[in-house]
Amino acid sequence: MDFAQTEPCPTGTGRDPARRSEWTVRQMVTVGSTNDAAATMPAWNAVRADRQTGGRGRHQRRWVSDAGGLWLSAVVPTGPTEQGWAALPLAAGLTVCETLQSLGAAPLRLRWPNDVMTGPLKVAGLLVDMFHPGLAVVGIGINVRNRPDATDFTLSGQVARLEEMMSPVPALDALTAMLLSRLRHVVEEIHARGFSALVPRLNRWWDSERLVEVELDSRSFRGFFGGVDAAGRLQVRAPDGDVGVFSAHQVTRLRECEPTGGLQ
Ligand code: BTN
Repeated sequence: MDFAQTEPCPTGTGRDPARRSEWTVRQMVTVGSTNDAAATMPAWNAVRADRQTGGRGRHQRRWVSDAGGLWLSAVVPTGPTEQGWAALPLAAGLTVCETLQSLGAAPLRLRWPNDVMTGPLKVAGLLVDMFHPGLAVVGIGINVRNRPDATDFTLSGQVARLEEMMSPVPALDALTAMLLSRLRHVVEEIHARGFSALVPRLNRWWDSERLVEVELDSRSFRGFFGGVDAAGRLQVRAPDGDVGVFSAHQVTRLRECEPTGGLQ
């Protein structure tokens, strides 16, 4: 990776930005949310912070972001089609799983749409924002050495960190560079060949034997998780053979059931 200083940091809380091959990365000490800090940046720029004071999760949830974790937001072009934007949350989950696997983290799986899990525990979360047409901010939060459950006791029994899954744990700089490099390849592949080209790779990361309950606006649908189709829609096989196919915007929530059928 190529490190070169590009410009002095404009804020009192930041360090000098670094240029890493195909990405320009701004490193901050403390920021509200890296997604918000990246909102006005052009494509192939990224922001990483040591800690976030207002880290945001999906569904307006708070994301605990103490020092020791990887808090990264990367700006990517959404591409010429609607599909490019719709595919990004799934493609970002694939990027994180493949990167962590290449470093030896195991076991890993995806929980729809893009929670990165080890067994029943969440290791990483992704939040994709679109602040300007044509550009998306892919926010990646990975618990590395931090202990979110020590800050927020309600997370107890729900979270894991890389430190418990691999040894040695990668340096945050190296992990950042690997994630960005793979993200760029994945995004360029969507633009060149369409999202469907990624689907076989993506569908390897789900637990296909898992019973789930999909909550829709006015009803729910229970069945076995069947991965995503070529358009990125969620497929669920009910025990009676009925197959439900749902776009991300139709799904209010997906809950994984325990083997006994109870909801987790
Ligand atoms: C979720 O699982 O709910 C998504 C969590 C996303 C957290 C990351 S950390 C970097 C970026 N900045 C944020 O404020 N959120 C994302």
